[in-house]
Parts: sequence; C-alpha cells; structure tokens
Amino acid sequence: MGKIKNFFVCEKCGYESARWMGKCPECGAWNTMVEEVRDTSRNNKVVQDNNLSIPKSIVDIKSSEYERYDTGIKELNRVLGGGLVKGSLTLISGDPGIGKSTLLLQSASSIAKQYGKVLYVSGEESEEQIKMRGNRLKVMFPNLFIVSETNIDIIKKHVDSIRPVFVIIDSIQTLYNSQFSSAPGSVSQVRECSNELMRLAKNTNICFFIVAHVTKQGELAGPRVLEHMVDTVLYFEGERTQEFRVLRTMKNRFGTTSEIGVFEMSEIGLKEILNPSEVFLEETNFNQEGSSVIGIMEGTRPLLVEIQALVSETKAVMPRRTAVGVDTSRLNLILAVLEKKLRIPFYNCDVYVNVVGGLSIDGTFGDLGLALALVSSARGKQFKLNRMAIVGEVGLTSEVRPVAYCEKLVNEASKMGFQNIIVPYRNVEKISNDKINLLGVTSLREAISKVF
Ligand code: TYD
Ligand code: MG
Repeated sequence: MGKIKNFFVCEKCGYESARWMGKCPECGAWNTMVEEVRDTSRNNKVVQDNNLSIPKSIVDIKSSEYERYDTGIKELNRVLGGGLVKGSLTLISGDPGIGKSTLLLQSASSIAKQYGKVLYVSGEESEEQIKMRGNRLKVMFPNLFIVSETNIDIIKKHVDSIRPVFVIIDSIQTLYNSQFSSAPGSVSQVRECSNELMRLAKNTNICFFIVAHVTKQGELAGPRVLEHMVDTVLYFEGERTQEFRVLRTMKNRFGTTSEIGVFEMSEIGLKEILNPSEVFLEETNFNQEGSSVIGIMEGTRPLLVEIQALVSETKAVMPRRTAVGVDTSRLNLILAVLEKKLRIPFYNCDVYVNVVGGLSIDGTFGDLGLALALVSSARGKQFKLNRMAIVGEVGLTSEVRPVAYCEKLVNEASKMGFQNIIVPYRNVEKISNDKINLLGVTSLREAISKVF
C-alpha cells in the first residue's frame, strides 16, 4: 500500500533526514533543509531483464575518439573542449537575463542546419515567444522543433518520436515527474528529472543541454548532486548592464576547465569575440594614475586587461577594502607586502580595485600589475613608460616570481601594439621577441624603480 512520507532534504548536498535540522550533518551548511513529500507506493522499481548491463573485459570495450558536433559558435566549442560530445549532458547556469536561452537557441539552429533534428523544450516561454526570439536571431530552420512542456514523461515521448540529435531543456527547475508530489523546482523533482534525462542521454546518444537557475547567492539551485551527475558544467557570467558575457567551464569530462568564451550581447543575439584583449582594452586611456594593464592566461588564451586601483585616505574607523574582479585575499596579501617590505602605508587608506570589462581574474599573473597600480594611486604618480603591460607573481618576501606561458603573454602584448612589458627576470631568457621592450625584474622594489 502506498504511504505518503514527509522528509527534509538539504538543498546543497541532497542529504535526507526525517526531521528538520538547522545545520546539515553531511555538508555542514546552515538553513538548507527543505521539506519534501514522497509517495513511497510507486517507488519500488523492479529491474527488468532487458535493462541489465553486461560487464565486459576492458580489452573488449570499443573505444573511439569522442564524436563531436560543431555548435557553429567557436567560443562555445572552445569551452566544451572542441565541440559538443555525442551523448553528453551539459548544464548551463547563470543569472536571469544573462543570455542562456539566446545562446542555446543560436547553437540549436546551427546544429539543426548541419546535423539533423533539434528539440528545444521550454518550460518558461511559450512557443510563440520563442519563435519571436528566433525571428530576431534568424534561426528559421525546419529541423528545429520547439515545444512548451514541463512533464518529463511527455518530454521523453517527444524525444522518442522526433529522434533529435540535440535536446535543450530550458529549464530543469520547471520540469516535474508526476510520480512525485513535490513541486517543480524542489530538490527531489530536480534530482529525479535530471536522472531521467541522464539515462535518456546515455541510452540514446543524444546530446542534452540543461539550463539551471542560480540562487541569489549565486549557487546552483537544487542539490549539488546535479553537478556530479552531468558531464559538463558551464557558467555564464557578466554584468547585465554591460554587453560582455563570459562563458566558463566549471567541470568538463571531455576537456579542460580553464577555458573561457567571450561574447557580446547585441540586437541580433550573442556575437562571439575572438580577440578579447582588443575589446577589454578598447576604452583604456594609457598612463592614467592607478591604472595598469596586466597579462593573464585564460585557459590556452593570453588576455590583456586593465586593472584600476584607487587609494584614498579613510574617513571611517575601519578602512575599506573593495575588490571587483580580483580575489580580496589576494589584494590583502599584496597590500601587506607593500606595507611591510616597502614601507608604503595603507592602514589609514580605503582601497578600491576594479577589473575593467566585468571580467573576474584568478591566478597570480596579475599580482605585479595590481601592486604597481596600487603604488601609482597611493603616490598620485603615473607610470613613465608608454604603453606598458605587466606580468608577474609577487611572493611574500616581495620577490617577483616567474609565471607560466610568459612568452605567449609577451607576444600578445606586442601584437596589441604595446611598447614595453615588465616580466619576471627569470622568464626573460626564454623569450625571443624583439618587437617589444622587455624589462625583467626580480623584486617589487626594482619594478617600482623602473616604472616611476
Ligand atoms: P535570455 O537569453 O532570455 O536570458 P536567460 O535565458 O539567461 O534568462 O536573454 C536575456 C536578455 O538578452 C534580454 O533581456 C534581452 C537581451 N537580448 C538582446 O539584447 N538581444 C537579442 O537578440 C536577444 C535575443 C536578447
Ligand atoms: Mg531563459
């Protein structure tokens, strides 16, 4: 007989408990337990013979290179590791209005044009709304099928009858399985529906792209298990008020996770930006006080971006430290080195740092550029070298440490018309580029004496 069971699930890790708890014992998160209802009567699954898997010897397993589809969008292919792998499940998340549906509709049309049928399942917009968007994006291909549906069983039937090569689910939070009584978007619905989609993808060799919303804190809504289940997790970020969008890989079973794709939102959809340095430096006024251009690696791609610092005397009891696009702990580390090793005081100053263009940089490539921008603003002095880029990691003893791929960064800077570049001394001998003035430095002090 069927029993209705109430229980609590942690939204973060999927831990289940019979009673509510303030803190999840599994992942330690606070206030993440939500109530769910499950009808246990229909939950007894019987394994049918035709669904049995057969273990094979490893030598007998046929292996082939991943077969990939070209999505028609080079920047998307790049973050996917060279195209969309057949039978893969990809999750794409990002703030509302950032352009997820637009990106997927554009790639759907390109795949429909080249490879066959594509099914776009929307639980958020009506078919007419999607058609209107499609008109604007010029994606009118007979092979592109649109359906507005949220029931997972019906979606499976559609997939069975249409037999597409590519399916888009927009979004997982709108889907529901009628066997479960909880509402769409709840932890158990999200988990069950994703499970079904994964099984479908692996059995049919169809590619799935799943849109997932993020919570206000910027985390993926629904349990973390979602991320473990899928093959690839992409994150679409950017400022909605700016036109740049950056697509990042957070997880990829078929490629690296350090690649980014850069896009620009226009009236006719997302346009890819194949040379991001050009765009990020478009409005840079060189030789401004508190501004420097740093070279960073994003995946396999060198990128030049402007970093700005503002140091002003503090009026409050506690000095402020605000960093946009840079890790605050990295900023604090560099401030500490400047104070302790170079005796430049910041304890009575507010410090603001911003990376131009809405990009978030990680890694240590930008340390030296950030330090020099801070010194420039604190002293109210601009750099004396014209069109200068800066690359280098700063250590705790104020030494400048070598970075990987330095030559690529130097070549990018010279290609972008830079005349000078400050690099770690130990990188210099491995670089051959006579179009740009290479200045090797061993310490922060030496770098300061060279640029001011
Ligand atoms: P959308 O793809 O609907 O975002 P998401 O699915 O991530 O919520 O796109 C959102 C915004 O993009 C919308 O506010 C309008 C804008 N936009 C354009 O500027 N140009 C276009 O061609 C399209 C289709 C959308
Ligand atoms: Mg959308």
